[in-house]
Amino acid sequence: MRKRLLWVLAFAALTLLLGACSGDLPQNTFDPAGPTAQKQKDLLMPVLWVAAAVFVLVEGGIVLIALKYRHRKGGDDRLPPQVHGNTRLEIGWTIAPAVVLAFVMVPTVGMIWELAERPADAMHITVKGYQWWWGFEYTDPDMVVSYGQGGPIVVADTMVVPAGRTVDLSIESAGGLVGGDDPDFRVAHSFWAPRLFGKQDAMPGRTNHIVFAADEPGTYWGQCAEFCGLQHARMRFRIVALDEADWRAWVENEKQPAVEPTDPLAKQGMDLFLNGVSGGGQCTACHSVGGTNATSPAGPNLTHFAAPEHECFAGCNWDTTDVEALRAWLHDPPGVKYGSKMPNYNLTDDEIDALTAYLLSLT
Ligand code: CUA
Repeated sequence: MRKRLLWVLAFAALTLLLGACSGDLPQNTFDPAGPTAQKQKDLLMPVLWVAAAVFVLVEGGIVLIALKYRHRKGGDDRLPPQVHGNTRLEIGWTIAPAVVLAFVMVPTVGMIWELAERPADAMHITVKGYQWWWGFEYTDPDMVVSYGQGGPIVVADTMVVPAGRTVDLSIESAGGLVGGDDPDFRVAHSFWAPRLFGKQDAMPGRTNHIVFAADEPGTYWGQCAEFCGLQHARMRFRIVALDEADWRAWVENEKQPAVEPTDPLAKQGMDLFLNGVSGGGQCTACHSVGGTNATSPAGPNLTHFAAPEHECFAGCNWDTTDVEALRAWLHDPPGVKYGSKMPNYNLTDDEIDALTAYLLSLT
C-alpha cells in the first residue's frame, strides 16, 4: 500500500516536472515582451539565484545533520553534551541574513521607484475588473467616440494597444449590475499579463497603476491573479499590440457607431437585442451597442464585438470566431460558466440564430 502511494507521488511529481517542458507558453514570465516585464525579470533572476543558494545551504545542512546524527541501532544512547548559547554563531547567523537581504533590497527598492514612474507622454487606459471579465476604457481626449454623448472608446476582454507606445493603466474594481455600487460586488482582482508586466491588484475604492509597452505587434495573454469568486480561474484577457497603421485603423473603427446589419437574420437579431426576447429578457439591461438605445455599462460593450482584434469573449474563455461556443453561451450562460452574472433568458433556437448573426455582424 505504502509502496503504491510512493509510486503515485513519484508519477505526480514527474508529470509536474515534464509539464515545465511544454513548448507553448503564452504566459511565460521568463519570456518578456516589453520593458516592464524585462526589468522585472532582470530583478527576479539575481534574487532567484540568491534564494536558491540559501535554499540549498539551509536544506542541505538540515538533511546532512539529520543523517549524520540519526539514532542508530546499538548506538550510543547517552545524551550528547548539552550546550546553551554560542555568541559567535548567533552574531554570525544574524549578520549573514542581514547582508543577504541588503543585497536583495538595494536593487528591489530602486526598481519599485523606477516602475512607479508615470511618464507624461503615456497613453491612458482605465482597466476595470468585473465578475468575471475585464473592461477597458480609453480615456485620452483623442480616443472619444463619434456618436451619442461622446465618451471614451470602451471594449471588453481584449485590450488593443499600439506596439512600442508606453501605456499607463489605471486599474480599478467595478461593481456588478445586481449590486450596483454594493461593496459585495466590488471584489479584489489582480491584473496580470506575464510577458508584459507583473501583477497589480484591482482594489475596490482605489486606483493602482501599471506602466508598460509591448515591443512587437502580437497577442499577449493575461488573467486575473487574485481570487475573486466562482469564476476567478476563467477571468482571462488578451492584449493585442498592433503596428501603427493597424492601430490607426482600429481606433477609427472603434470611434464609429455599430454597423446597421443588412442581412435579414441579423436585423431580426438586432430587433431582439434592442427590444427584448420572447421570455421577457432585455439584453440592453447590461450591454451597450454604440449608436443604439443600448447604453448600459454593466456588461461588456458589444459595439464592435466581431472586430478581428476582439479575439475572445466572456472572460476570454472562448474565441469570438467560435460560433458554437457563442451559441452555447447564449443558450445558457451560467450553464457553461457557473455563477455568470449573465442570466439564462431561455432563448429559443431561432432567437439564438438571430442574435448570433447580429453579434457577428458587429465588426
Ligand atoms: Cu478576478 Cu480573480
